Amino acid sequence: MLAPGSSPKPRTRLALQWKQISWLTYWLVLCAAEALPACPFSCSCDSRSLEVDCSGLGLTVVPPDVPAATRTLLLQNNRLSSLPSWAFANLSSLQRLDLSNNFLDRLPRAVFADLANLTELQLRNNSLRALDPELLRHLPRLRHLDLSLNGLARLPPGLFDGLPALRSLSLRTNRLQSLDRLTFEPLASLQLLQVGDNPWECDCHLRDFKHWLEWFSYRGGRLDQLACTLPKELRGKDMRVVPMEMFNYCSQLEDEDSSAGLEVPGPPCTKASLEPAKPKPGPEPEPEPSTACPQKQRPRPVSVRRAIGTVIIAGVVCGIVCIMMVVAAAYGCIYASLMAKYHRELKKRQPLMGDPEGEHEDQKQISSVA
Ligand SMILES: *[C@@H]1O[C@H](CO)[C@@H](O)[C@H](O)[C@H]1NC(C)=O
Ligand SMILES: *[C@@H]1O[C@H](CO)[C@@H](O)[C@H](O)[C@H]1NC(C)=O
Ligand SMILES: *[C@@H]1O[C@H](CO)[C@@H](O)[C@H](O)[C@H]1NC(C)=O
Repeated sequence: MLAPGSSPKPRTRLALQWKQISWLTYWLVLCAAEALPACPFSCSCDSRSLEVDCSGLGLTVVPPDVPAATRTLLLQNNRLSSLPSWAFANLSSLQRLDLSNNFLDRLPRAVFADLANLTELQLRNNSLRALDPELLRHLPRLRHLDLSLNGLARLPPGLFDGLPALRSLSLRTNRLQSLDRLTFEPLASLQLLQVGDNPWECDCHLRDFKHWLEWFSYRGGRLDQLACTLPKELRGKDMRVVPMEMFNYCSQLEDEDSSAGLEVPGPPCTKASLEPAKPKPGPEPEPEPSTACPQKQRPRPVSVRRAIGTVIIAGVVCGIVCIMMVVAAAYGCIYASLMAKYHRELKKRQPLMGDPEGEHEDQKQISSVA
């Protein structure tokens, strides 16, 4: 009687244990799922450091399901060639974004607009040729920006206006020939600037940037190198050791440029800026394209204004000298004609020469002429 009664007891205990174990694993899985944010397919995620590593996967698009809490997003060594403007939307916790070694050739204006907490942005070794001036506008915490190994030929004015915290900036190995001082002035926290391996043209355009560099190194900033490629006489020389006197000719050139109307080709004028002129179909001829957007002309630098002042003063002085010369010439003419007249009179009276009375007459004539 004992045997049949005792046999079901361990069986139910076993079943109970199984039930408990399965419940436990179920809850464990549920808890893990709660703690671990969903990881994008084939990326690896670290729930502790909130790092999502999608590097080296041959991706052509950014995974759409990156968790919103991600702090580090690694996308280097992929095949990204373009990004939609919502690629990093809602990732406001992101601090590090690595997009290096891809094939990006353009970046939408607002692609980083949500990344208010970003401190490091890697764009090294892409195919960027131009950047939108608004691209980095909303990154107040950005400290490190790497744009090296791209095809950048110029930096648009205002590109760094929204980066007060930037400490290191690399522009190495691009196609930059010149830099604008005004573009760099907002970078008040910059400590390290890398601009080596670019085809620098050490001419008037770079002169103002040299001024900025002097101030930059005065406040402790470090620069790798700024070796000139052109002109030939300065090839290989560092722009910082080229004496400022070599650029004295620049103010004259600037003056000529402004009178010839030579301007750096800017963005083409939009139709919107032309439209306000339309409602007036007056008799005046249609406006020339160069005058269509006069507000885009930059204010003239002080040296040019000074040069214009010099030209005006020189003009006035020349005018006075000219008037004096005309007066002198007129006086000379009158004098010459009077002398000629006197000589004619003298010849008429030649027969009377020797006569004391004639001589008297002559003297009278002279006094009357005078
Ligand atoms: C971003 O978040 C908002 C609201 O939280 C949501 O409506 C929107 O769809 C999100 N966008 C993306 C691209 O995830
Ligand atoms: C951004 O960083 C600050 C300080 O590190 C933090 O307080 C804030 O919550 C962060 N914002 C987001 C959206 O994560
Ligand atoms: C740049 O990126 C390409 C493609 O990702 C890679 O093949 C190349 O080795 C990289 N070059 C450097 C210098 O990192």
